[in-house]
Amino acid sequence: MTRKDFLINIGVGAGATFFLSCLGACSNPTGIPAAPSANFTLDLTSPANKPLLTKGGFVYQSGVIVAYTTKGAYVALSQTCTHQGGTVQYDPSSDSFFCPAHGSDFSDTGTVNVGPASVGLKEYTVTKSGSTLHVQG
Ligand code: FES
Repeated sequence: MTRKDFLINIGVGAGATFFLSCLGACSNPTGIPAAPSANFTLDLTSPANKPLLTKGGFVYQSGVIVAYTTKGAYVALSQTCTHQGGTVQYDPSSDSFFCPAHGSDFSDTGTVNVGPASVGLKEYTVTKSGSTLHVQG
């Protein structure tokens, strides 16, 4: 191997290493884990899910916040704030989801109402059958 070939190989290797490390970092610049996939049921007769019988109530399950909104709809969003990973809560007074860490606020479809978060929350499909909620997405 000539000196020129050696220097080219080192340059290509360093470039590839830099590119791959940037690719990993750039695909998730906040370091917040991706919103989980969900496929679970909630038994509304269970004491643990009692908050979902009252408008304004909410529970957490498998990385998802499930709320019974003041409008009378069941809504499920990823519970981890996209800003820096705080846990969002449902606020019945504004019918929105907020993060107490820095004040981000999200609509009932997960879009950002107020920053600093700039990326919305994942929305899940909720279907009700009798006294069971099925959350998936
Ligand atoms: S972590 Fe939610 S607003 Fe900062």
